[in-house]
Amino acid sequence: MALFGVNRCVKCGHKSGSWLTVRTMRATWDFTGTRALVAGAGGIGAAVAGALASAGAAVLVLDIDKAKLDRLQQETSGFVSGLAVDLTSADACRTAVGRTVELLGGIDVFVHAVGVNDRRPVLETPDEVWERITAINLDSAFWLGRAVGAVMVPAGYGRIVYLSSVSGLLAHADHSPYAATKGGVNQLMRVMAREWAPTGVTVNAVAPGYTETELTRAYLARPGVRASLESLVPAGRLGRPADLTGPVLFLSSDESAFVTGQVLYADGGRTLV
Ligand SMILES: NC(=O)c1ccc[n+]([C@@H]2O[C@H](COP(=O)([O-])OP(=O)(O)OC[C@H]3O[C@@H](n4cnc5c(N)ncnc54)[C@H](O)[C@@H]3O)[C@@H](O)[C@H]2O)c1
Repeated sequence: MALFGVNRCVKCGHKSGSWLTVRTMRATWDFTGTRALVAGAGGIGAAVAGALASAGAAVLVLDIDKAKLDRLQQETSGFVSGLAVDLTSADACRTAVGRTVELLGGIDVFVHAVGVNDRRPVLETPDEVWERITAINLDSAFWLGRAVGAVMVPAGYGRIVYLSSVSGLLAHADHSPYAATKGGVNQLMRVMAREWAPTGVTVNAVAPGYTETELTRAYLARPGVRASLESLVPAGRLGRPADLTGPVLFLSSDESAFVTGQVLYADGGRTLV
């Protein structure tokens, strides 16, 4: 990774010489030779896969939705490839990781960015909703992480990044299975990080606040919801998929070698209030 510092006036854009001059940093990443597996071709997964590919990584993406994979492949001019798979079984996860190793020759980076939500009060949450959300959000995090760890640990190198959520910390009403899975992902990540720290494999999580993707589209379209959520974010806006690529790429890079077992909140300050 190369980092360039530029002094710029926030008012006029001139490069220096003003009391308003701030230091802005622009990071460019070099993932040439890196083999990356990204689970999830949704808003955040696609942004991360695209960012890794434009930084030179060979990227394979897993998702149940073949149309999304095809679109991503097209948008990245074939630099990202896809494998359509339902990740709600241990066998499917194991097979997908095995296939990735065959195709890429190994896995250096794994990003878990699949997830579903279904907003209901606890008393109105049926078994099948609990089971579906835990299978996708938490079970697949374990199954894929375990299979990827079995490749990375003997290789002596790896970067694993889970997409957690502010819901892993805050008790949002109507989020019981989702919040439980994100709290679970945080603890799963911490245990993997501790077990694998001696091996050169780091495991971390990035926790977004509300971000504009398909996961939140219908909810944000309800009257008043967007404004009320924005008012809870000190930065004054909701997240965008591009807000997550920097944090995820940092934790996927060599620059984060001594960072493990951490949850990095990328939430515009949502968890501060
Ligand atoms: N968008 C947000 O506001 C937000 C906030 C916090 C955390 N997150 C987390 O970020 C991650 C990515 O979310 P997103 O916003 O990109 O959502 P998204 O809905 O855009 O993408 C999720 C992807 O998961 C895939 N998926 C669902 N079930 C699957 C299955 N059984 N097998 C394989 N793939 C499956 C979907 O097809 C979809 O492409 C999730 O873990 C989510 O919980 C999102």
